Parts: sequence; C-alpha cells; structure tokens
Amino acid sequence: MSSSIIFLDNGATSYPKPEEVYAFMDSFYRRAGVNPGRSGYDLCLEAGEVLEGTRKQMTRFFNGTDPNRLCFGYNSTDALNLALWGLLDEGDHAVTTMVEHNSVLRPLYHLARDRKVELDIVPFDENGFVDPDEIEKRFKPNTKVVALNHASNVIGTIQPIRETGRRCRNRGIVFVADTSQSAGKIPVDMEADFIDVLCFTGHKSLLGPMGIGGLYVREGVEVRQTRAGGTGVRSAQKSHLEEYPYRMEFGTPNLPGIAGLHAGVKWIESKGLDAIHHQEMALAEKLVAGLREIPGVILYCLKDLRDHISVLSFNVEGMDASDVGTMLDVDHNIACRTGLHCAPLVHEHLGSDKLHGAVRFGIGPFNTEAHIDAAIKAVQEIASTRKR
Ligand SMILES: Cc1ncc(COP(=O)(O)O)c(C=O)c1O
Repeated sequence: MSSSIIFLDNGATSYPKPEEVYAFMDSFYRRAGVNPGRSGYDLCLEAGEVLEGTRKQMTRFFNGTDPNRLCFGYNSTDALNLALWGLLDEGDHAVTTMVEHNSVLRPLYHLARDRKVELDIVPFDENGFVDPDEIEKRFKPNTKVVALNHASNVIGTIQPIRETGRRCRNRGIVFVADTSQSAGKIPVDMEADFIDVLCFTGHKSLLGPMGIGGLYVREGVEVRQTRAGGTGVRSAQKSHLEEYPYRMEFGTPNLPGIAGLHAGVKWIESKGLDAIHHQEMALAEKLVAGLREIPGVILYCLKDLRDHISVLSFNVEGMDASDVGTMLDVDHNIACRTGLHCAPLVHEHLGSDKLHGAVRFGIGPFNTEAHIDAAIKAVQEIASTRKR
C-alpha cells in the first residue's frame, strides 16, 4: 500500500489487491500475453486456458451451470448496458429501485427516452431495504425486467434478491442482479437466488484489476446482442455469432484483467467468503460504534448491521460532505469517497442530496483495527470543529 495512506474507499475499488494478483498478472502476461483462441501455437493455447479456466471458475463461483454463459466485458456498467439494451423493447415495462447505481438507472432512463420503455422505481424503507412485495405490486402484463442492486454502494444494505428473484421467476419476468458490491463479499448464487442475468465487476470485492467484469446469462434467457465485431470464430459469417459466450463478447478480451480476476477469486476462495465478510463486518461494527458516539455525526440506515456489507455513509451536522472528505484526506491521510456516489436516488430518498451527498467509508480485506481507530479519531476531531 502507498506509504502511510489509510484506504477506506474500498466501495469504489479494492486497494491494495492481494500480492498474488499483481504477481500472476505480471508473470502470466509476460509469458503468454497473446490473443487467446485465435491460433494454435502454444502461447495462444496457454492464453486460452486462462481465459476458459477463469470462465469455469467464475461460473462455479456464481453457481452457474454452463461456463459458455459466462461472458466477459469491461465492468458491471458494461454488463448492465448489454443486458438492459439486449432485453428491453418498445412497449416493455421495467421495475427498478431507489438503491440503484447510475449504471442501472441511466440505461433505463435512456431506454425510457429512446424506446418508450415504461419504468417504475420502488423506494426503500427507513432502514435501507426494498420490500419484494412492493416490487411485485408494480408487475404488469408487459413487465419484462426487474433490475435490483444486491448490495448498496452507499448504505451497504443487502437487498432481498432471493425473494425478488422468486417472484420474478413465478411471473416469467427476467431478473437482472447488479452484484457489483456483493460479489466477493457474500454468496451470490444463480440458482438459489433465481437470477436470470448476473452482472459483476472485477475490480471491487472480487479483488481483480479495473477493466474486467461481465455477465452470466441463465439458460433459457435470451439477451439480444447490441454490438457486433470480431470473435476469432467463423470470420466469413456476416452477422455476429448467436451462441454464447461469443454473443456477448466483442473483440480482443482483457486477458491481463481476466488473469488478475482469476487470481483475485482464487485468493478469496482460499480465505473463504465467510471469513472475509466476518472480518470486515467486525471492523464495520467497531467503526459504527465509534461514529455513533461522536456528537453531530448523522449515520444513514445503520440502526444495526444485520444484512449489511462493510460500506457505510455518514455526515457531520452543519458541514459539507466534501469538506469532511478533504479534511480526512489532507489532515489525516484517510481516503474515502464523498458526494452522491453515482446513486442520486439514494441520497434524494435520505435527504442527503441537500448536503451534497455523504461521506462513505468502504472497508476491505486489508483494513485493520488501527485504521478504524484512526478513522474514528479523525472524524471526532473534524466534528469538534463544526459551528453550532
Ligand atoms: C452498486 C454498483 N453498481 C454498479 C457499479 C459500477 O461498477 P463499474 O464502475 O465497475 O462498472 C458500482 C460501482 O461503484 C456500484 O457500486
């Protein structure tokens, strides 16, 4: 980690990565950084083994059934765009929620504008949870898609994806899950959670590098391709291939990214998801307990930490969130994230939009108790300077 910085911005991206991630990306890309699946020479075969091996690994990780349905893209924004534009047509209705990130909201707003897709946006309750019954109440004969964030990148609440997925499956509605914050922290299970399209990003809790992510499309769910290009297969054909994974993959893949993702997920599996989550949540409990004691600190949806991941937001009464962030950085060398966190409806619903958002801490597997102590002390000092 860079000198003495205390990195509490793991909701944005995980940093640092396990040493194994840096080491494997470097050694593999030096040795076999060539186009996979395009030729038959040895290096190409080795590159292909890492590509296909990671497809299988990620399919297992999400409890999918067919590795060919695991398609790599850049990140979850890319995957969500592919999914939503490939599923929704004129006259369709989609349901989503106020916990969503702009990577869901903006494609849906654009679909409403460009394809006249009807949109319903369900609020969350005072503790930050969306009620699956409220989602179901919005179902109409033309409802095609429900898109739900598994874990909020602002308030850290884990949404009831299984109950939502079950309701969608019963009605033949395609359930799209945004697992950007949850994958790598808590189990995400295609089968048990009734997920039809799972979108993931590699650089957050999966501990891979930036620029790799993807989607898993359940068998029987048809996502139309919205791009076309080279796949390295059947090049004389005029149209892009229909079969998975080619249907959702376009051009040269991010092979070093895939190698890093492979090493990140291998590291997670060696430690165990539960152990990582438990360790992070113990730190989150300590942090919330400390923040709760500080006069003037406003915590959002943190009555208790059941069904939470280790991402949390707060404000200091009478202070702008960005000023608090600057003081944490400049005076205390603590990295956090302030503002609306690309999730404007969360802040609108909490009323924190009027304070220009909130301050967010995201705890990762390399944070320690000393980091948490330092963060609490820093917020204490900052809050003591507020004008009353
Ligand atoms: C809940 C959620 N969805 C989607 C995204 C988008 O991820 P990426 O920028 O990797 O595409 C993020 C990133 O902050 C997120 O937290």
